[in-house]
Amino acid sequence: MKRIVVGITGASSILYAQRCLYFLHMLNIEVHLVISRTAEQVIQYELGRQGLEEIYQYAYTVYSPEDGFAPIASGSFLHDGMIVIPCSMNTVAHIAHGITSSLLHRAADVCCKEQRPLVVVPRESPLSTIHLRNLLLLSEQGICIMPPTVALYNKPETLIECVDTFIFRIFDILHIPHTLGVRWGERGTNTEEN
Ligand SMILES: Cc1cc2nc3c(=O)[nH]c(=O)nc-3n(C[C@H](O)[C@H](O)[C@H](O)COP(=O)(O)O)c2cc1C
Repeated sequence: MKRIVVGITGASSILYAQRCLYFLHMLNIEVHLVISRTAEQVIQYELGRQGLEEIYQYAYTVYSPEDGFAPIASGSFLHDGMIVIPCSMNTVAHIAHGITSSLLHRAADVCCKEQRPLVVVPRESPLSTIHLRNLLLLSEQGICIMPPTVALYNKPETLIECVDTFIFRIFDILHIPHTLGVRWGERGTNTEEN
């Protein structure tokens, strides 16, 4: 069974985190979840109390962001990678500069030092030069930067469809096997009538 660490920070677009956790749960992935203090508030603001409870239910374990003794704080705890979704510019800056003032930052820092896959979904617009410099530092470290964009080539009809297509691409990056969504070239996606 695959084991994935998920971090949720206090950026907008929490729906991406909810759908990501929903599918990881569906795929029987062991999810180790850490939610920043601000994220807790943003989740409730964007998805309501029920949304927060749903997010907790999809996880195998939920850690407090202050829990420095959690397994994910150590490189000796093996896992298959981490997703920070959405990732605030505050957390981007912390990871970029190796500042580990919360468990979420420390878990990401562990991925960097242990050379484990880390996918960061930065959510901010517009991006300042500081944001861009920090994102470049992450990329130079081998971290995969996946801004939450909308793919229109498969002609989505709902917002959820757009979000889900994006989530499936993260799973591909982390080598999480799945048959969710339609791939380009399948079922006539690249034919003219489509
Ligand atoms: C409703 C709401 C939406 C926010 N959206 C963003 C965002 O999209 N991107 C961002 O970088 N910060 C955003 N912020 C600001 C962050 O929450 C703030 O910088 C916080 O310190 C992030 O802390 P964290 O990285 O520990 O979660 C938002 C704040 C609120 C209250």
